[in-house]
Amino acid sequence: MAAVPKTTEIFKENIFAGKVVLCSGGGSGICYTMTEAMVQHGAKAVIISRSLEKLEKAAAKMRSATGGQVLAVAADVRKPADVENAVKKSIEAFGRIDFLINGAAGNFLAPFEKMSYNAFKTVHEIDVQGTFNLTKAASEHLKASKGSIINVSATLYYTGLPFQSHAGSAKAAVDALTKHWAVELGPFGVRVNGISPGPVGDTEGMSRLGKLRKAGETESRIPLGRQGVTMDIAQSCVFLFSDAAAWITGHTLVVDGGAWMNTSFV
Ligand code: HXC
Repeated sequence: MAAVPKTTEIFKENIFAGKVVLCSGGGSGICYTMTEAMVQHGAKAVIISRSLEKLEKAAAKMRSATGGQVLAVAADVRKPADVENAVKKSIEAFGRIDFLINGAAGNFLAPFEKMSYNAFKTVHEIDVQGTFNLTKAASEHLKASKGSIINVSATLYYTGLPFQSHAGSAKAAVDALTKHWAVELGPFGVRVNGISPGPVGDTEGMSRLGKLRKAGETESRIPLGRQGVTMDIAQSCVFLFSDAAAWITGHTLVVDGGAWMNTSFV
C-alpha cells in the first residue's frame, strides 16, 4: 500500500501564513492532524477540548512537529461561556480567526432502547449544540476575515448503521447546519463545508466502533482496500480551506475510500 503523502508534498508550505485556525476536539485523532497540517502550512492554531492536561501535551507535540504557534484552551463546547472564552483567548493571542473546525464529538455503541435519555441528549449536545455554540461565538471574526468553516461529520446515518442512532442523527443535523450556514454566511465571504471521515485507524472513534467488526473485515469491505489514516482527512481539510476550494460551499465531502457505499458500513 502506497503511503499517504503529507499535505506539504501536495500544497505550498505557506498557503495559510498569517491565518489562524480554531479547532474543537483538536487535541487528538483526526482533528489533531487536521490542525497540525494547517500549522504546517503557516497558520497559528488554537485547540480546545475539555481536558487542559491532554491539550497542553497535544499543543507541545504540535509545536515541536511544526515549529508553529499553538495555543491550548480548555472548553466544553456544550457551555456557551466556555466557547466565548475560547474565542476571546484566540483573539487576544493571535488577533483574528480565519478557520474554524468543529470537531468535538461524543460517541459510543448503544442500541437505542438501551440508551438512557441523557446518553442520547449528551451526544446531541456535544455534536449539534456544540457546533452551534462555537460557530455562533466565532462568526463575527470569521466574517471579518472572510474565513471558512469545516464541520466534521460522519456517514453513519447514510445507511442507518445500528447502535449509532444518537451520533448518526446528530451528524445529520450537523450536515444541515453546514448547508444553512453556507447560505447565511456566503454573502459575507465565509465558506462552510463538512468532511465525513470513514474508518480511520488509530482514533478514539474507531477503537469504539471497530468493535462491531471482525479483524480484517474493515479493509476487506472498503472499495479502496484500506482503512484511512488521519493524514487522509488532513489533505481534504487543507484543500477545503485553501483557495483551490474558493467556489465550494455547503458541501460535505466524504473521505472514506468508498466505505459507506457498502451497506451498513462506515
Ligand atoms: C451507553 C453511555 C456510554 C456508553 C456514556 N453513556 N458512555 N451510555 N454506553 N458507552 C451515558 C452515561 O451513562 C450518561 O447517561 C450519559 O451518557 C452522559 O455520560 P457522561 O459520562 O456523564 O457524560 P460526558 O462525560 O459529558 O460524555 C460522555 C461521552 C464522552 C459523550 C460518552 O465520554 C464521549 O463520547 N467520549 C468519546 C469521544 C469520542 O470517541 N469522540 C470521537 C467520536 S467519533 P446517564 O443516563 O447515566 O446519566 C464520531 C464519528 C464516528 O463521532 C465515525 C467513525 C467512522
